[in-house]
Amino acid sequence: MTNGTQGPRCGPPGYDRYPHLFSEGRFGRLTLRNRIIMAPMGTGFATPDGRVTDRHLHYYAERALGGVGMVITEVVGVEGDIDPTPAGNLLRLDSDLQIAGFSDLARVIHDHGAAACIQLTPGFGRQGQAPPGRGLVSSSDIPSFTDPKTTARGLSREEIARLVQAFGEAARRAASAGFDAIEIHGHAGYLVDQFLSPLWNTRTDEYGGSLDNRVRFAVELIGSVRQRLGPDFPVSFRFSADLKVPGDRPLEEARAIARRLVEAGATALHVDAGCYEAMPWIFPPLYFGRGPLVTLAAAVKEVVDVPVIAVGNIFEPALADQVLADGQCDFVASGRGLIADPEWPRKALEGREDELRRCIMCNEYCVGNLLAGKPLGCVVNPRAGREKYYEVRRAETPRRVVVVGGGAAGMQAACTAAERGHTVVLFEKSDRLGGQLLLASAPAFKRALTYPLEHLRTRLEKLGVEVRLRTEATPQHIARERPDAVIVATGARPAGAAVPGADKRHVVKAWDLHRPRPGLEKPARFAAALGALGLGARGDGPTRGEGEAERRPAPVEGDRVVVAGGGLVGCETALDLARQGKQVTVVETLPEAAGDLNPVNRTALLGLLAEADVTVLTGHRITAVVDEGLKVVGPDGRERVVEADTVVLALGSEPEDELARELRREYARFFVVGDCAEPRRLGEAIHEGFVAGLQV
Ligand SMILES: Cc1cc2nc3c(=O)[nH]c(=O)nc-3n(C[C@H](O)[C@H](O)[C@H](O)COP(=O)(O)OP(=O)(O)OC[C@H]3O[C@@H](n4cnc5c(N)ncnc54)[C@H](O)[C@@H]3O)c2cc1C
Ligand SMILES: Cc1cc2nc3c(=O)[nH]c(=O)nc-3n(C[C@H](O)[C@H](O)[C@H](O)COP(=O)(O)O)c2cc1C
Ligand code: SF4
Repeated sequence: MTNGTQGPRCGPPGYDRYPHLFSEGRFGRLTLRNRIIMAPMGTGFATPDGRVTDRHLHYYAERALGGVGMVITEVVGVEGDIDPTPAGNLLRLDSDLQIAGFSDLARVIHDHGAAACIQLTPGFGRQGQAPPGRGLVSSSDIPSFTDPKTTARGLSREEIARLVQAFGEAARRAASAGFDAIEIHGHAGYLVDQFLSPLWNTRTDEYGGSLDNRVRFAVELIGSVRQRLGPDFPVSFRFSADLKVPGDRPLEEARAIARRLVEAGATALHVDAGCYEAMPWIFPPLYFGRGPLVTLAAAVKEVVDVPVIAVGNIFEPALADQVLADGQCDFVASGRGLIADPEWPRKALEGREDELRRCIMCNEYCVGNLLAGKPLGCVVNPRAGREKYYEVRRAETPRRVVVVGGGAAGMQAACTAAERGHTVVLFEKSDRLGGQLLLASAPAFKRALTYPLEHLRTRLEKLGVEVRLRTEATPQHIARERPDAVIVATGARPAGAAVPGADKRHVVKAWDLHRPRPGLEKPARFAAALGALGLGARGDGPTRGEGEAERRPAPVEGDRVVVAGGGLVGCETALDLARQGKQVTVVETLPEAAGDLNPVNRTALLGLLAEADVTVLTGHRITAVVDEGLKVVGPDGRERVVEADTVVLALGSEPEDELARELRREYARFFVVGDCAEPRRLGEAIHEGFVAGLQV
């Protein structure tokens, strides 16, 4: 199929700027208003018996209103007797009694002009969590992923037939609830994939062995839908073209599967990668860059004549338009990009790219929350999943608000207060806004952390917040403003001074390595890239005339470096240095490095450290810095020196809370937010800033 882009359309600037993205697209018998599809994402909002809640309705309505062509819902279970795992806080459409809730869901999506597609699963198989007293199932008797000591039981043919039947019945219910399309959840190593892949399928009957046999279950699921909904009801099949596990699925086999699925009646293919053994590919972290799976979609598109959907870190309108223009896919699906900014399609269409709130691919509050059994949220978008609860309304009494600190917490607090109609003054003692975000975004693989910085800086400017740079706020400064409310967001400073020998000449703090070096010009390539994104220093903003610092870490002496502290900052600093050609060792006291990261990004980061030949010593207590390097005590209780030319300290941070303590009793409306309350992470800084901005 061609990607069907039409000629120029009149209207908002997006039609000219992104002609492919904003052209209508055929999706089976449907015509979608553009090529952007919301990717399916579990939310954790369902009731314990799998019903749709108001929280779902507000969350999905906001994303449909944001301008996508079609919403694919989170995964929905079709039965719970055979495969016990699509239960708990997952949605279920296993009874006619559930239809009413799903009708509401389809309606709110339609009300805002998007088509509604429901994603259905026959089960999670070995990747599920067995409830007490129940075992997991799979294609064959194989170890469960979550508890490899236990075996997931191979399904009997009779059970397969019942699952196929239940799947068709759920599809029938979905259509009667008003959904326009069905997507089959056949990817990422879940139950359908456990049939497709010989990694897990060792059956000797007609469901195992040859490719045709392994595809049989998937084909029967498509058939079951077709039998009930006829030949032209749109059915997308989501599958992983590459499981990213050594020894599995060469591309040719993935393409053969794609052809079989289309022959069986799939009207679209949604191409993904990864499985739980290679989880970062399912939720590509920032280290993988943008659009890391597009080439897989392109390879599938070469062999089928139905629309192909590409997914994975595609939320930049220019990139999305480009991959469509290049004919690599027919639609782009965006998941986390729409959690972070439900309105990104509309903003791109209306030429408001400078307002985009881009996802930073951190996986902290979206996947991280779900893996921890909590409902979805978002680090950069405090309203995600709380759309109704966190409405930003005009304040009845406009107030004068002083915010101290121009890091993420202070900038967010100032923006939210100003959005509510308050008059806001923000003090920042350094010569630029950003606080730790300036350091966090320094390594090349962390540039995504410039997104919240640029977003908040632009918002401050548009909202008319008065930013006073190079002003260290004291109680006297603040009193002179006669504020009705004060928000202190003075952040943190690096810890580590207490380590004996920390003052030696060859010791440097990780924070100082990443500090922007004033006076240097931005490298032209980085400046151009930011320009193309509509980012970068703006001539008339609060940073006018300052120029950006070069965003490379300061040089480190010698070839051998030891990083003391193996949390997020230590591990990323080590990766950055290793990529500059240094021989790096990380020393961490805890049994696990990068333990402060969610499991997805942690796995990816540890993999990259291994690739870069970084030695990671866990369970090693740091005792002192010595001239030869770092003195440590290993798990065997023996002391030794890890030799190095430079010792980098990444031992956490401590709050800059002196001002907050001084002011605590001075103001009735007084808030302490972000790292100065307690050093933590960006998510807490933004969320606390947001809530303080709502409450002043
Ligand atoms: C290298 C590095 C990497 C990181 N990577 C990540 C990551 O990947 N993900 C993540 O979630 N978190 C990360 N973090 C942590 C995250 O950046 C911080 O938790 C968050 O940015 C804290 O924001 P904040 O506004 O509370 O404080 P800060 O960013 O510290 O901002 C405080 C601001 O207040 C100013 N200030 C202080 N006192 C005064 C005063 N008296 N008057 C005026 N101004 C004052 C300071 O100059 C500073 O600009 C990283 C941190 C570092 C250092
Ligand atoms: C919180 C969360 C939940 C997800 N749940 C599902 C799901 O229910 N079904 C599914 O097929 N994929 C699911 N995914 C994967 C996404 O559909 C998507 O493939 C992935 O997030 C990569 O795309 P993105 O970079 O646009 O987010 C989920 C992803 C996230 C972040
Ligand atoms: S929590 Fe992080 S990865 Fe998830 S949507 Fe928000 S910014 Fe993106």
